[in-house]
Amino acid sequence: MKKLFLFLFLLSSTLVCGQVVRQNLSVSTENTVMVFSVTESDELIYRYYGNKLQNLDAFSYELQRTPHQPLPVAYPSFGGIASIIPALKLTHADGVMISELKFSEISTTAVDANVTETVIRMKDRCYDIDVVLHFKAYLKEDVIAQYVTISHREKGNIKVENLASGYLNLHADHYYLTHFAGAWADEMGWQEELLTRGVKSIESIKGVRTAQTENPSFLISVDGKAEEYAGDVYAGALAWSSNYKLSFQLSESGCLDVVAGMNPFASTLTIEPGREIKTPEMIWSYSHNGKNRISQNFHSWSRRYALAHGDDLRPIVLNSWEGVYMKFDEQAILSLIDDAAEYGVEMFVLDDGWFGGKYPRDKADSGLGDWMVNKRKLPHGIGYLADYAVKKGIRFGLWIEPEMVNPRSELAEKHPEWIVKTGKYTPYLERNQWLLDLSNPEVQRFVEKTFDDVVAMSPNISYIKWDANRHANNVGSSYLPVEKQSHFWYEYTQGLYSVYEKLRNKYPDLIIQLCSSGGGRVDYGALKYHDEFWASDNTNAVNRIYIQYGTSHFFPAIAIGSHISSSPNHQTGMPLPLKFRVDVAMSGRLGMELQPQDIKGKDIVFVKRAVETYKEVRSVIQHGDLFRLKSPYDSTDWASLMYVSSVQNKAVYFVYSLGYHNRHQFYTEKLKGLSPDKRYKVTEINKGNKSASSAAGKVFMGEYLMNVGIQLNLSKPYESAVLLLEEVE
Ligand code: DGJ
Repeated sequence: MKKLFLFLFLLSSTLVCGQVVRQNLSVSTENTVMVFSVTESDELIYRYYGNKLQNLDAFSYELQRTPHQPLPVAYPSFGGIASIIPALKLTHADGVMISELKFSEISTTAVDANVTETVIRMKDRCYDIDVVLHFKAYLKEDVIAQYVTISHREKGNIKVENLASGYLNLHADHYYLTHFAGAWADEMGWQEELLTRGVKSIESIKGVRTAQTENPSFLISVDGKAEEYAGDVYAGALAWSSNYKLSFQLSESGCLDVVAGMNPFASTLTIEPGREIKTPEMIWSYSHNGKNRISQNFHSWSRRYALAHGDDLRPIVLNSWEGVYMKFDEQAILSLIDDAAEYGVEMFVLDDGWFGGKYPRDKADSGLGDWMVNKRKLPHGIGYLADYAVKKGIRFGLWIEPEMVNPRSELAEKHPEWIVKTGKYTPYLERNQWLLDLSNPEVQRFVEKTFDDVVAMSPNISYIKWDANRHANNVGSSYLPVEKQSHFWYEYTQGLYSVYEKLRNKYPDLIIQLCSSGGGRVDYGALKYHDEFWASDNTNAVNRIYIQYGTSHFFPAIAIGSHISSSPNHQTGMPLPLKFRVDVAMSGRLGMELQPQDIKGKDIVFVKRAVETYKEVRSVIQHGDLFRLKSPYDSTDWASLMYVSSVQNKAVYFVYSLGYHNRHQFYTEKLKGLSPDKRYKVTEINKGNKSASSAAGKVFMGEYLMNVGIQLNLSKPYESAVLLLEEVE
């Protein structure tokens, strides 16, 4: 008898149960499709994300499930038979902790010729709760943006503990995760690892500058490491500038479940009946041809949809920070403007140190929050400087950090209740400053007014650098009610976004840089209100090669502020040749971050020429397609990349030597992205003392450059070359 029971038990546990498919749903772009199936019991099953298919009929065959391998649902909740990390976990008004979602309806509308919006409505089986999955498909860019809304009509409040933006279910033999980790002045370090059984999570609970130590973006390559030009790669980037969590769970089924969204840590949201909560967007892309294609998808999507003025070209900037820090007077700034104009720079930006009344901002410990001009330093005010710049033929920009306050400031004396703190606990200082509580609408108005007042100082202000130099800790809000203290992260970020939104609408032509002490807010939640970001406070060209390599995976060159700085470098103390520093800075949005008076002799001519050359080639760098060639993480000690214009008539190629290479060996690089049939003339730009390539001045077919390659005459550490390729008849 015992044996019979055991046999029946084993049989039942391996028994395959059928599920009849009632309907297949899909969200597609030009080359990809995401497929879901609705079963006869109204479950919404996650089926596929990958190359576009001609026909989805085969998804209608009966679905097979075993008790050990429940079918992946499109949006897993805590409840039902699945036991993975839930995308949704809530507590109903009556204390029940389970949710079971069933499919209700789908609608798809064309927003325009390139964007469709699919809305899938789900309802709880037992409670009056609506969960709606929204998918915006960007056809040409092969990008799908997903977000979720939730609302209810229960008798009391519900408590939402987990509310992810998106979920992905993959099935392969192996999964490699690429993510981007680092620290201040060392952001976006590339890391790749094989996922093993269990849960790997990438997350932040820093509240502000959450992208600095771990960027909320990742790549998953299946059955092999991520290659640039081959293999299946899935990518996700969370558009959120606060606490986030990306979880990768490899379970007994061999499937990988990816749950991505706001970090549930200490963030329960109490939701009244009738109120709707919306998650940030999770931006997905898939490529069958490696990760370079993923980057191109994100770049073209962001230039078109997720970056201010993505179609414009960015001006060349001289930023005052590393040139004068906070130690300047009016004459010093006028002379920086003179030099900027002399070098052909197009925008001068006055960084930190220009403000403060009772507590002048001469050091980082005072004045933050008091946004009046420091008349001792700048007796004629900001308008005078901005007018002077315009007279010199360049534009003028200004630095602000309006979310923060020094204890030594009039603002902190006047509004202690605006500071983020909780109970009797001391708010900790970071860089001598506190955070203002943007969950409070009064603080939002203050930040807006600060911005208005600063911009009103001169009609000639055309650029704002918005900084944020600390995290959030010991959090709490004097504005939020006791039962909603855990809303702090959500409300702060919504407050910040609503300020950004208002200011962006009010000042549509301003260029706004997203700074955040370098790399702190490099995320698509904040970026859509900005024109560019400051990728790192580390301006050392060698470090920048690594930082910009990581950054390039999700963010386009047009948005990456990349400045020529002094040697030895102020952060690292490392001396580097001027040509190397210029060649690296030119691969992004070029700028200068030094005292121009320190450039001497023939270097002056070199920098002036480089600035003029950048103007000629910047449309290729800022609007072209990126092709990463050699990764700096390769053991070969080379790094290289190129940009190619969309019609393949122009390309700019950058190569950097990071080590000593035997002088008997030439480096040969096979180029990418050119038209095989076109003829290209190769010109060396930023030429140093010796010619970097025997190809310079010659004409080659694209097929030759891509199959045989181009030879470089570089061998020493920190030698570099930039080649321009132009189509000729
Ligand atoms: C941090 C920024 O990243 C720097 O560029 C500079 O603006 C300083 N803050 C000013 O305090």
